[in-house]
Amino acid sequence: MQVQYWSTPESVPSQDQPDAAVVIDVLRATTTIGWALHNGATAIRVFSNLEALQQAAAKLPQHQRLMAGERGGQQLEGFDMGNSPVAMAPALVKGKEIFLSTTNGTRAVEKVQAIPWVATCSLNNLKAVAQKLAQLQGDQVWIVGSGWEGSYSLEDSLAAGGLLHTMAAGLGQEPQSHCGNDEMAAAAALWQVWKDNPETCLRLSTHGQRLQRLSNHDADFRCCGAVNSLGVVPMQSNPGVLCLLP
Ligand code: MLT
Repeated sequence: MQVQYWSTPESVPSQDQPDAAVVIDVLRATTTIGWALHNGATAIRVFSNLEALQQAAAKLPQHQRLMAGERGGQQLEGFDMGNSPVAMAPALVKGKEIFLSTTNGTRAVEKVQAIPWVATCSLNNLKAVAQKLAQLQGDQVWIVGSGWEGSYSLEDSLAAGGLLHTMAAGLGQEPQSHCGNDEMAAAAALWQVWKDNPETCLRLSTHGQRLQRLSNHDADFRCCGAVNSLGVVPMQSNPGVLCLLP
């Protein structure tokens, strides 16, 4: 299996299509998606366009849905919640569909939604996603980072490298044997530097610093930096819809 890493949705090649794609937004969209589904949300519907989100959400009775989202790290006005994984408590999300829009993460999911197999990953579910990937029949896999408005993100690259290492270790192979591009090799090297202290890496990243300037996000950093704290794999069931498939 050859794994290519694209650090932003904008860098994803438009002509090719792999067998599978894994989207990463460690801070914080794919961490939030994992916790929302783990805590009982029935589905996460992602939208880059806020009007489309509001129209789709309005079709469900209010007690069956939540609107969640942020721009620039701050909760959107009129929405039920922002994009914090620790806010996705069972009492709030159980049995609900979540309509989610974030600055970069949901755009990254939309970018790859035509690919037949799409999952989301964070540091929390590296092992669970690696196991699913290892069972795939496909040869070509993309890992897509969400970045920040077209720029590279340190934390997404860290998780991309962690995913490659975890998958290769599970197969008893060297990560290098699956590296499909230089971006993937660089991300794999980054994991070696920070794997014992990922939260420090998250806090050092540009978006980590943005969140720290906005307010106290210690609980989010602890949650987003916890490696393999979740066993779920959010999978795309329909374009733009993520859920836990049997
Ligand atoms: C994003 O999609 O850019 C992020 O998830 C932003 C955030 O930290 O809420």
